[in-house]
Amino acid sequence: MNQNVIETSRLRLRAWTPDDLPAFAAMNADARVMEYLPRVLNQAESDAMVTYIREHFNRHGFGLWAVEVIGVAPFIGFTGLSVPNFPAHFMPCVEIGWRLSYEHWGKGYATEAATAVMELGFNKLRFNQIVSFTTKNNLRSRRVMERLRMTHSAADDFEHPSLPAGHWFRPHVLYRLSRAEYEKNARRI
Ligand SMILES: CC(C)(COP(=O)(O)OP(=O)(O)OC[C@H]1O[C@@H](n2cnc3c(N)ncnc32)[C@H](O)[C@@H]1OP(=O)(O)O)[C@@H](O)C(=O)NCCC(=O)NCCS
Repeated sequence: MNQNVIETSRLRLRAWTPDDLPAFAAMNADARVMEYLPRVLNQAESDAMVTYIREHFNRHGFGLWAVEVIGVAPFIGFTGLSVPNFPAHFMPCVEIGWRLSYEHWGKGYATEAATAVMELGFNKLRFNQIVSFTTKNNLRSRRVMERLRMTHSAADDFEHPSLPAGHWFRPHVLYRLSRAEYEKNARRI
């Protein structure tokens, strides 16, 4: 199985290359993209994130894939799976996440990429559960979670420990999808 490349009808999820770094830095410096993330990143911080992503792939065999639109755009952001490492009631877990450059929002790319990642996570990597979390107000990201048929319970809401007490987006929501639910949804289609 080649987990390094995942293809969908419009997208290729692939390993990162040095050519991706400038476009990734530009999106990480874009206040619209980073509205619900702690802060915009500079070039060095953005590059360090790619180093971290590469190390995560080496450690776990999966991670946040670079996403390209086949024949249209060589790099539009990332979608993938990661193992978060902060304390919370739902740890340990595997998280699905996404970040796309602003000009590629509103085309269904995040949901298309994440649908393929879910398939890999449940059917090939055989995870029993995949979660996703975001600050409460990040409705765009929550809509992706809901399109993936992940479910939210208020009992899972949590305060993100990496953000200072009182920070307006410290309150987070958690969405979950179990393998049993995923398989049940697949049978309904
Ligand atoms: C979260 C994020 C990835 C969502 O991107 P998105 O493009 O809104 O999400 P989707 O891929 O699901 O696209 C859905 C939209 O595409 C539209 N669309 C257009 N063509 C479509 C197609 N062929 N198929 C599906 N949807 C399509 C849908 O109608 C929907 O539009 P709407 O938002 O006006 O309702 C993006 O906003 C982002 O990168 N945000 C910043 C980073 C971030 O917050 N990440 C999460 C941190 S936890």
